[in-house]
Amino acid sequence: MNPRKAATSISRRSFMRMASVAASLPVFTEAHFAWADQQAAPNNTVMARKTRPAMPPGAVLINANENPLGPCKAACEAIAAIAPKGGRYDIDGETEKLTKTFAAQNGLKENYIAVYAGSSEPLHYSVLAFTSPTKGFVTADPSYEAGMRAASISKAKISKVPLTSTYAHDVKALVAADPKAGIIYICNPNNPTGTITSKADILWALENKPAGSILLVDEAYIHLSDAESVVDMVAADKDLIILRTFSKIYGMAGIRCGFALGRPDLLAKLVPFGQNAMPITGSAAANVSLLDAELVPTRKKIIGDTRNDTFAWLKANGYKFIPSQSNCFMINTGRNGQSVIAAMREKNVYIGRTWPIWPNVVRVSVGTPDDMAKFKVAFKQVMDAPAVAANHSPFDVVSFPELS
Ligand SMILES: Cc1ncc(COP(=O)(O)O)c(C=O)c1O
Repeated sequence: MNPRKAATSISRRSFMRMASVAASLPVFTEAHFAWADQQAAPNNTVMARKTRPAMPPGAVLINANENPLGPCKAACEAIAAIAPKGGRYDIDGETEKLTKTFAAQNGLKENYIAVYAGSSEPLHYSVLAFTSPTKGFVTADPSYEAGMRAASISKAKISKVPLTSTYAHDVKALVAADPKAGIIYICNPNNPTGTITSKADILWALENKPAGSILLVDEAYIHLSDAESVVDMVAADKDLIILRTFSKIYGMAGIRCGFALGRPDLLAKLVPFGQNAMPITGSAAANVSLLDAELVPTRKKIIGDTRNDTFAWLKANGYKFIPSQSNCFMINTGRNGQSVIAAMREKNVYIGRTWPIWPNVVRVSVGTPDDMAKFKVAFKQVMDAPAVAANHSPFDVVSFPELS
């Protein structure tokens, strides 16, 4: 069934309840998380409104897993060509064209694809739709925080399961964590570690998950790695939703486009939480990006080479890091990670955040070779200096509204 049509079968009362819940809840993106710990925010207002403060000239921005390559040439041309038509809502069916392209490339029917302005919204809405005070949210730890934040809004029990010794998702422990789970969230490759979970493990979780739950498989970084997609499981009508974004390998974080992929009855459950019109620039740029056969392999190599060069340097200098297959990686600084982040900021190099489970470990995004050269100089200076205490933790300033 068309998800939008299916939504009309939801009672008006429950629709209004869900819609009013959704309207009062911020959808957080990587940019919110990345910048929350760089600002002395007195409460969550700054986080909710601002994704980036004004930056000093020459700042190295390797804190939000962005892609410095930006949109590909064809995407920039498509954006320029479509811009004059921006006075109308998608008059030429750009979003439909995009859906058709992705469907054909991935063996999916078009009604198994819901297009959004990025994947943060469908991530948030999936969690609101499938968790509740009686249906828990299960996640790896550390992993991308946005799902947990949405789960705290739906007052779901949150179960955090440490990664395995190879930094994969521990699927047996995830499945066992909560017999009343509504969602098991698997981020592959994982943000922040950039490590992958095998397809066999994800399929095992799909077969063995608690009755009534779904897997939410976040493939935001899949093209940067050798991880295998489980998109064939969507085509096979299994109980999962996959999230994809154009913010990473496609370099369109500021343009905004992403997908939720799933059975129409699953996608329909997201509809009451929000259905904004797509920006035609996002849809047009995404469509031509998909049609550029060179984009993924070329960018995977460029980003991978820069990352591996940085790994060689870290290794040569005796720093401990987690080998990642993505555009971010983690370094164990052996001292309070917040103090390292603050000291790097003093040198105009903005690196990513820490996670509560590993307070000494910082996440660094892969920038340009020039960014990483500046990172190396600053990081060595910071690590050669005596450790100092951090003056705040990001989780002091990142507080989230509770529904009454
Ligand atoms: C794991 C993961 N999922 C989803 C997103 C959402 O990205 P966007 O809303 O830009 O598509 C991000 C952003 O960094 C992410 O890291």
